Amino acid sequence: MNILIVGNGGREHTIAWKIFNSLSFKESNSKLFCTTGNPGINEIAEPIGIKPDEIDLLLKFAKDNNVDFTVVGPEVPLSLGIADVFKGNGLTIFGPSRLASEIETSKVFSKDFMARNNIPTAKYRVFDDNNYPEVQEYLSNVIFPIVIKADGLAAGKGVYIARDIQDSMTFINDIHNNLIFGTSGLRFVIEEYLTGFEVSVFVITDGTDFKILPFAQDFKKIGEGDTGKNTGGMGSFAPANFLVNDETYDKITKRVIIPTLNNMRKEGREFKGCLYCGLMIVKENDGYQTYVIEFNCRFGDPETQSVLPLIKSDFLQLLIASSGDKINQYNLEVNDLYSLCVVAASGGYPDKHTTGYVVEGLDKAGTECLVFHSGTKESDNNVVTNGGRVLSVVGVSDLSFKDARDKVYSNIEKITFENMYFRKDIGGKLAL
Ligand code: AMP
Ligand code: GLY
Repeated sequence: MNILIVGNGGREHTIAWKIFNSLSFKESNSKLFCTTGNPGINEIAEPIGIKPDEIDLLLKFAKDNNVDFTVVGPEVPLSLGIADVFKGNGLTIFGPSRLASEIETSKVFSKDFMARNNIPTAKYRVFDDNNYPEVQEYLSNVIFPIVIKADGLAAGKGVYIARDIQDSMTFINDIHNNLIFGTSGLRFVIEEYLTGFEVSVFVITDGTDFKILPFAQDFKKIGEGDTGKNTGGMGSFAPANFLVNDETYDKITKRVIIPTLNNMRKEGREFKGCLYCGLMIVKENDGYQTYVIEFNCRFGDPETQSVLPLIKSDFLQLLIASSGDKINQYNLEVNDLYSLCVVAASGGYPDKHTTGYVVEGLDKAGTECLVFHSGTKESDNNVVTNGGRVLSVVGVSDLSFKDARDKVYSNIEKITFENMYFRKDIGGKLAL
């Protein structure tokens, strides 16, 4: 079986690693290809030198090289319709259609979809050119802080928590008038700020039935103590299921997952692939309520790095089951393990940062931890930094989160590159 992984970051390295170690992959003498890859992915997959958004070239490669199964990591190729194009050409692919991907790629679609289908989410209002003059007036009647979200994709930077009217208008002016995210900010959502704790839930679905992977928690802020700017994610741990009680788990299933999948299907947007539910659990008078903060149409990064090591059953077969309609026949088994991931980033990220620095010590850290590559590349036989988030170091333990965490922090220091930055408090609040 020939398998193509689309995407070149830490999430895709983890997916490639998990497929590579799936029994069905090993037994079938299969081969892995990746797009442009990185030095980590390239150890197990052959890079084909095509970028994830070059859909026509990827299709040609897949046809010419008998690719049996394609797995898409990032949202951009999905938003460009890679799943539609591949399926239209008789190829099997893991990931939703362009229309289904709008659950992530348009915040306006996603919020309106939740509202009309009674899926709990923060109260909101949509603004565009037609009602733009009303923004100021609307803001004079809200309780701050409030949350402003650009409609379209903005590389994780399209959400802003504003403290007052002036702060709000500065961001709105940037996205709507100065077009800092291009056309993504022509429409935007203003929504109520919710207070609670967040969990990330991956739902692998064939459009109707589904399997829920162990929950994760993501650390989105750059600074320790959850301070500073939002990033793609600076660390994660899993399983985070202990954070919710049985009643809340039940609500997540019955009020979020089932109505989302059923109504996407009813609206002609059947969702196949990984539905990422970013949830805020809020304590209210009558117990805990679950609100959807965001949906993504793909696995999360860096949650994937901590969740996938927990999967015991054959991961490749799980993805194949999702691309067909047989996920109910798949028996999901999970290891009784604890997993914790810390991201090593380039100093300065998520703002301007310099790359191209030599990375050393990967082998030393790799003896006790899993080391997944995000922003790295090869240069003169060295691994060098090539992005904001550079590496994900994951500790896995059958004893405790403390043990998993100790493994990460005693090994991440063995890795060095100029201006390396990582948070020292990932999972620090866990009852160890
Ligand atoms: P998003 O890209 O929609 O996940 O937003 C990024 C981050 O902003 C989330 O992970 C939350 O931490 C925060 N956020 C988004 N929406 C809200 C909200 N309504 N209330 C509080 N925090 C939010
Ligand atoms: N870690 C958040 C995301 O992947 O969107």
